[in-house]
Amino acid sequence: MEYRKLGDSDLTISVITFGAWAAGGWMWGGTERSEAVKAIQESYHVGVTSIDTAPIYGQGLSEEIVGEAIKGFPRDKVQILTKYGMRWDLAKGDFAMHSKDNSGRDIDIYKYAGKESIIEECENSLKRLGTDYIDLYQIHWHDKTTPIDETMEAVTRLIEQGKVRYAGVCNYSAELMREAAKTINLVSNQVPYSMVKRDIEAETVPYCIEHNKAILAYSPLERGLLTGKMKPGHEFAQDDHRASLYFFKDENLKRVDAFLDKIKPMADDKQATVGQLVLRWTVEQPGITIALVGARDATQALQNAASMDIKLSAEEIGQITEELNKLELVK
Ligand SMILES: NC(=O)c1ccc[n+]([C@@H]2O[C@H](COP(=O)([O-])OP(=O)(O)OC[C@H]3O[C@@H](n4cnc5c(N)ncnc54)[C@H](OP(=O)(O)O)[C@@H]3O)[C@@H](O)[C@H]2O)c1
Repeated sequence: MEYRKLGDSDLTISVITFGAWAAGGWMWGGTERSEAVKAIQESYHVGVTSIDTAPIYGQGLSEEIVGEAIKGFPRDKVQILTKYGMRWDLAKGDFAMHSKDNSGRDIDIYKYAGKESIIEECENSLKRLGTDYIDLYQIHWHDKTTPIDETMEAVTRLIEQGKVRYAGVCNYSAELMREAAKTINLVSNQVPYSMVKRDIEAETVPYCIEHNKAILAYSPLERGLLTGKMKPGHEFAQDDHRASLYFFKDENLKRVDAFLDKIKPMADDKQATVGQLVLRWTVEQPGITIALVGARDATQALQNAASMDIKLSAEEIGQITEELNKLELVK
């Protein structure tokens, strides 16, 4: 495994960080708790020391699973990344979406990052995670009903109290990062980035490079698409959010498959899967610090971790990018 430091912090995390959204089941058609615990534990043993989770993932379940998985590990050898600002248990702030929890009950989700709410959320996360500090605490989505300085002041208090080590954000534009930087030292931004979703290259990446902020790329396999396992006609489980995303339209599955076929010989030469090649390409892109990769079970997780065993020369990265630039998806 390889490790990289986040911005100007002392926080070093594994380049493949375990993403625990699917582990919580919610929006992913359910979860198998013991498989998820095992996936996190086996990842740790091959050097995946950092885990990204959030209270909203399974409405607390993902954090509980992470807590259970890391119980026997030395706390200072694990890095816990979690989030705040998405409430399903408090109707306040900016309404985000209507959903159903894992047991099929209706829930309304709000983006809310008011001061008291963050302090309360942090206590709840610490309990579920079974720890007394969080390594990286990130706002999940911008809450337009709360001034950013109020939010960041609350996180500053948590840092002073030793409950949080570093502050990060998710899904922030460069403009929002600039605003937050007036109140707090942000070390990272967690944003969507994959071979087929590269919007951040326009503004966020240049901003983060210039200001030495880490980028945590989320959904780098585009939620399984870039492993090449889904074929036209693929059927998702009930409540799996992927069923409604344009990436998984039959025409796009065909186009992605054709692209993956082009890079497969290079993967074969390296005795790697195309998914592993995709992950290595991703973390070699300018400004990309970490790939947050989700996994359902230990087999997937170990395969993802092993992507760091393969190396790509600048020329090989160029060849992949050249093929990729010919790929266009329909929306
Ligand atoms: N801050 C945010 O707003 C935000 C948003 C999204 C994600 N994230 C973070 O980023 C993490 C990763 O993103 P993601 O889970 O959305 O997408 P991802 O990492 O691109 O895809 C993960 C999914 O792909 C499939 N998969 C993974 N490894 C595989 C392998 N080796 N072989 C075959 N299939 C494999 C699994 O689903 P199946 O087996 O069901 O296909 C898995 O759940 C999340 O867990 C979360 O921590 C954050």
